Formats: sequence, C-alpha cells, structure tokens
Amino acid sequence: MSHEIESTLHEERLFQPSQTFSEQARIPDMATLQELYQKAEDDYEGFWADLARKELTWHKPFQTTLNSNHAPHYRWFEEGELNISYNCLDRHLANNGDKTAIIFEDEKGNNRHISYKALHRDVCRFANALKEQGIEKGDRVILYMPMCPQAVITMQACARIGAIHSVVFGGFSAQSLKDRIEDTGAKAVVTADGCYRGGKIIELKATCDKALEIGGNSVQTVIVLKRSGHDISMTQTRDIWWHDALKNVADECIPTWVNSEHPLFLLYTSGSTGKPKGIQHSSAGYLLGALMSTKWVFDIREDDIFWCTADVGWITGHSYVAYGPLAAGATIVMYEGAPTTPNGDRFWEMCERHKVTIFYTAPTAIRTLMKLGDELPNKHDLSSIRLLGTVGEPINPEAWMWYRSVIGKEQCPIVDTWWQTETGAIMMAPIPGAVATKPGSCTLALPGIDADILDEKGNSITAPNKGGYLAIKKPWPSMLRTVWGDDQRYIDTYWSYFDGKYYLAGDSARRDEDGYFWIMGRIDDVLNVSGHRLGTMEIESALVAHPRVAEAAVIGKPDETTGEAIFAFVVLRGERPEGGIDEALTQELRKWVAKQIGPIAKPAEIRYADNLPKTRSGKIMRRLLRTIASDEEITQDVSTLENEAILLQLRGKS
Ligand code: WTA
Repeated sequence: MSHEIESTLHEERLFQPSQTFSEQARIPDMATLQELYQKAEDDYEGFWADLARKELTWHKPFQTTLNSNHAPHYRWFEEGELNISYNCLDRHLANNGDKTAIIFEDEKGNNRHISYKALHRDVCRFANALKEQGIEKGDRVILYMPMCPQAVITMQACARIGAIHSVVFGGFSAQSLKDRIEDTGAKAVVTADGCYRGGKIIELKATCDKALEIGGNSVQTVIVLKRSGHDISMTQTRDIWWHDALKNVADECIPTWVNSEHPLFLLYTSGSTGKPKGIQHSSAGYLLGALMSTKWVFDIREDDIFWCTADVGWITGHSYVAYGPLAAGATIVMYEGAPTTPNGDRFWEMCERHKVTIFYTAPTAIRTLMKLGDELPNKHDLSSIRLLGTVGEPINPEAWMWYRSVIGKEQCPIVDTWWQTETGAIMMAPIPGAVATKPGSCTLALPGIDADILDEKGNSITAPNKGGYLAIKKPWPSMLRTVWGDDQRYIDTYWSYFDGKYYLAGDSARRDEDGYFWIMGRIDDVLNVSGHRLGTMEIESALVAHPRVAEAAVIGKPDETTGEAIFAFVVLRGERPEGGIDEALTQELRKWVAKQIGPIAKPAEIRYADNLPKTRSGKIMRRLLRTIASDEEITQDVSTLENEAILLQLRGKS
C-alpha cells in the first residue's frame, strides 16, 4: 500500500437506538457500555478471566488467563479443562430441556422443531457412532454436508469426543475437497447422498467419491446421511450409512474433557498467496468469543428466535449457528435451500412462519432481495423481528437503508458486524441498545477488543477519515491459534508486518470524527464475492492449469449485487482469438474453474490479450488491470509497459 488510502464515502445519517429496544437490552446505554470498556482497559486479563469463569462451565478451572511467553502463540485459560458440547447442550437440560434448540426447514417446506433434550441425545448418539468408527480425540473429521441439523449434530459430536472438525462448504469441487482432506489428514468424512438447492440435486456423495478417487488416502470411513434419497454408490469397505452407524449405539456419551487450547476445528480460508489456509481455533477461548458476542451484539434473550442464514461451511455458520447461540441457550433457525426458492420472498415467509426475532444475513443477499422489490417483504408480517444484522463485506448505505425501512420498519437496530474467519467472533459492531448507527459503518470495537488503524510503521492514525491498516493490538480469546501444518505462514501472514506486536487483519479502514470504524476493503489480493473470500492466486492457478492457458491475472471488479465480480485476463498458448473473442473457450474456462475450485470461483468475464501488463520487476500491474476492468480512465504510469498496444486488447477494444 504505497499510496495513501483515499476515502470517498461520506455518510452523515445517524440513528439512535429506539427507547423500546434500549429499555429491554442487556447493555441499555452508553454508560453501561463505557463501564465494560473501562474494565477491559484497567484490567484486560481480569476482564476476560471474569467472563470465562462466569459464562463457561469448566470441568477443571484455569489458573493463567493469558500466557504470552511464546507470542504470537498466545494461550488462553491454560490448565483449564472443559467440553464445548457440554457447554452448548448439557448445561441447558435441567432448566430448558424441552425448549426448542433448532427449527429446521428444508427447501420443500417441511419443517420440524428439535428440543435441547433431543439434540443432546442425537449428539451423544452420533458421538458414540464416531467412536465406534475408530475416531479418537485429536483425529480430524471432514464434513461435506447440507445445511441440515445433522451438520450441527456432527460438529457438536466431534466436539464431544475431542475430535477436530473441518467443514468444507458443499459448493466446493472434488479437487478442493481432496486438498482439504489431505491437508488435515482426516480419518473420516461425513457427507450426505445429496441435497436440494434451487430444486436441483447437489451431488455431495458423488463429489466426495471423486475426491477420494484422486487422493485423500488418510480417509478410512465415509458416513453418509440419507437426505435426497436418490441413487448413489457405496463402497462396501469404506462407506456406511448414517442410520446404520447409529444402530446399537447408546443414548448417553460422557463428554471428553479437553484442555482450553485443544483445537476445536480447522476452517480453510483464502489468502493472498498459495493454497487456502487451515485456520485453527481453540476450544475455550473460541467459545467464549462466540458466546459473548452473541450476547452483546445480538442481545440474545430466552425467548429469541435467532436466524443466521450463513451456511455451516463458513465461519459465520460456526460461530452463529453451531456454537454461539446454542451456548447461550437460544432457539436457532436452519434452512436448507436457496433464498429465492420457490420465490424471492422465501426468507420473509420463513421469518413470518417461525416468528424470527433476530435476523442475520449478508449484504449480497440483502442487495439481491432488494432488487426484487418491496412487494415481496410487504406481503409478510415481519413484526416479530426486533434486530437485524449483516456480515461479510461492507454494506452500501442504500442497501442498509432498505434493510432498515422495508425489513425493519424503522424499528430495528442494524448491527453491521466486522470480523473474520481468523478472529473467530465478531470484533466490531454496534452494541444495539447503546450505540447509534450510521449506514455503512461497523461502528466500534467490542469490549475487550483493541482495534486500531495504523500507518506503515505501526503508529496509530488519529486524524479522522485517514485510511490505514486495520490491526488488533492485543491478543483476544477467540483468535486463531495457527495455520494448520504451516506455522510459519501464521507468523508471516498475520504478525510479521508489525514485528510480531500486532495482528494485521488484511483490511484497510478509517475512523471518522466520532471514532466510528469504516472498512474500506482488502489490502491483499483477496476478493470478496458475495461475502465469500477467494484468493486471486487460487483462481489464477486454476486457469493456468488449463492446457490452453499460458498466463492469467485475476482481479475484482466492483459489482452491484455480489460486491465484487471475478474478472480474468488470460494469455493463451498460441494465437489470441480473433478480436479477443472466443465464447466457446470462455465458457469452457469458466466451467474449468468451477470444477477446480467450485462454482463460486467462476470468472464473470474473461478477456484475452497477447501479454499481461507488468512492472520492470515482472509483477503484474493489478491496479492497472482493475482500472481497465472498471472501464475507468488510466491515470497510472504505463511507461514501463513493453507493448502499449496490448492496452487496447485488455480493454476489449481490439
Ligand atoms: C470482510 C467473515 C466490511 C473483510 C465473517 C474481512 C467485512 C473479510 C465485514 C473476512 C463487515 C467481513 N464490513 N467488511 N461487516 N465483515 N468483512 O473470513 O474484508 O469470510 O477481512 O469472515 O470479510 O471474511 P471471512
């Protein structure tokens, strides 16, 4: 980031929390919030230690709150022992066993309620089944599953026996699945025959078979849930149906107590270079972060019906579907299907049907549904909703205002939550009963989170509206612990920039006159397409793996719906197509990338050129490509270009 980051957005609107909301909120005003901030500032470790003792149920208490001796390998609540599934399930049984834990609805509209008692029994039974299949504490289990209760049951069952789960989003390809299996060295895969999305069957088991055909030799067992009921093939020696694995298992499973730092899960996410990283999370610290943020940001109470629309394949589906709200004893909604099936009002229809009180989704979904018009949400009674949230990318003020007026009827606070796979839990967001909101700003850091904006040298930028690097200056309980199998990458990616002192988030941001944070975008080569992180390198490698492609450069082009769209510049082996157009090849390359990574990584547009623009040192001039893709005027210095004529080709004009 050699140039100053310019901020172009100016937003003056300010919305105070409504009195009705504040009156019943856990943190009802700024004074109460200030007390929390103060406590965290006066005694940082004491602040977190008190919460950990009060909010989590321990098998063995911890002595040391934070061990920084091996920084940046921080250890939280050392010596402590607990079980995450015990904290999410068992401890609610005495008082709330009959309360609904999960309201599940599939795409066809079938729905059912699962109580805490029933969920506990299902988790125990599946934990016993895993044990019977030879899964032990510390073993890795890959999930490649639909968005159904059994996904949460599998995650919780792994946690119960101390196995480490790694969920792979169902939209990823066989190749991506295989890479993740191999990187984790997983012993088992839990999948389903298939599931419905947009009325079509997603072939989960067939894809899994393909992944295990091309690699993944560590896998001994594949457990297959029957969901779609269509024909699939089973490999006798390796595959077992979920319902068969459950035959003869006991209803009780004594939790395996694990150390606070025991890895709960690995979740792969894209970085700027190389292959996706296996972000490793801890047990105690992670759950504390997920739980406290659920209470503070979503203000969760006994009778709330909480619907986070994220898939369990992403971090949001971990912290705010599988763990946080269950640890808080709330009722969650899970939906297996597409948001526009059968119609564009599916979400709103479901909010009405299940009397959802807290609704949490991504800006890309909001923009998509906004385009379909106000009539769809207006057909439904949305009066049960009292709080709205967003996550995953910056939300444009227009979508924010629509969300507020059309969905929230001007009554609901909107919590714009900034965080990352790596942070484990929400780091910045308005505390809804206390903090006034501004459309497009994630407002302030949560208590106990030391967020700041720094310049290249690591000095705090105090001048308002000046962009810089977003950094977290103190370790926090739910932080990632390392990159699985590549600790050096953990150090290099997150800590080396500020000499091991501060965590580098990889985003640029600014603070306004009121100290509110505004996220401006990524500083690395990571794209954000519909809230999903994709590394440009990954897509480039996929393209170059095609026999006809010699070189490729991928950049993000601003897109009204998806935030960013994938734009690829490609140099072919041999001749460039006549006039730069070859529709058939473009379709083939798009399919190819979908096969290599997954449909979400398909380039929206591909342009062919004889060369890519490079600096003298051979680096691709990505900023120039971004300018070109957006059809903006070129202001960069292009004198180093070997062949200026290719500019016309890159612009699609020759
Ligand atoms: C972006 C998702 C603006 C950001 C939980 C971050 C956001 C990346 C917001 C992490 C937000 C997430 N406003 N940008 N409220 N939330 N981001 O790991 O660039 O999938 O670094 O975690 O998404 O994406 P990830």
